[in-house]
Amino acid sequence: MKIRYLGHSGFEILTPEHLKIVIDPFISNNPACQIPVEDIQADLICLTHGHADHFGDAMEIADRNNALLIANHELSIFLAQQGFETLGLNIGGSAMVQEVKITMLDAQHSSDMDFLDEVAPGGSAAGYIIQLENGYRIYHAGDTGLFGDMREIIGKIYQPDLAMLPIGDRYTMDPKAAAIASQWIYPQKVIPMHYNTFPLIEQDPKHFQDLVQSRNPEIEVLILKPGQSYED
Ligand code: NI
Ligand code: MN
Repeated sequence: MKIRYLGHSGFEILTPEHLKIVIDPFISNNPACQIPVEDIQADLICLTHGHADHFGDAMEIADRNNALLIANHELSIFLAQQGFETLGLNIGGSAMVQEVKITMLDAQHSSDMDFLDEVAPGGSAAGYIIQLENGYRIYHAGDTGLFGDMREIIGKIYQPDLAMLPIGDRYTMDPKAAAIASQWIYPQKVIPMHYNTFPLIEQDPKHFQDLVQSRNPEIEVLILKPGQSYED
């Protein structure tokens, strides 16, 4: 399994069987990401919600790669109307794409399509558990505040190996809430995301790392720069 951080909440995952999964590709308008959007390859694109800083370049990448777009029911209808191949999910539901299992889970956030000339409803915000062919489980929280089911459902039932959690504050959890989320979800590894893209969400990821280490020294915090990869 190989992961490349695309900045903000964007990740590219290369699975053991070489499926290319992209989550929340906010590339071309991301001031903190120098990756040319033309470089992004994808078989699947998973969207956590309809906000511009997550929806991003999804349609351009899907169009160029003939990628399948996975999103909540309402966003998937919108995307199907634009002519894309889509797979709609809703909270608690899963779908298999080849041997990869994708489950949509709750996130405490909103999801309107704020990039349209007239803002339109975009269903519910979500997170994902992506279980790779070898059973490795990745949790991407999307945009969310801290909520109790991170412990009861995500941690206890889905037991991710790796979690990607927002730490930017203002629109999502701050570093302290994300450190509590790390303790509740209890993955082996956690990657902070959704910070330092804009002045409003400036954070020191080392502060998050320190907070996690003081509570749970056994959890490894991986701080990735946009464009940086990690292999597990
Ligand atoms: Ni959002
Ligand atoms: Mn966001």
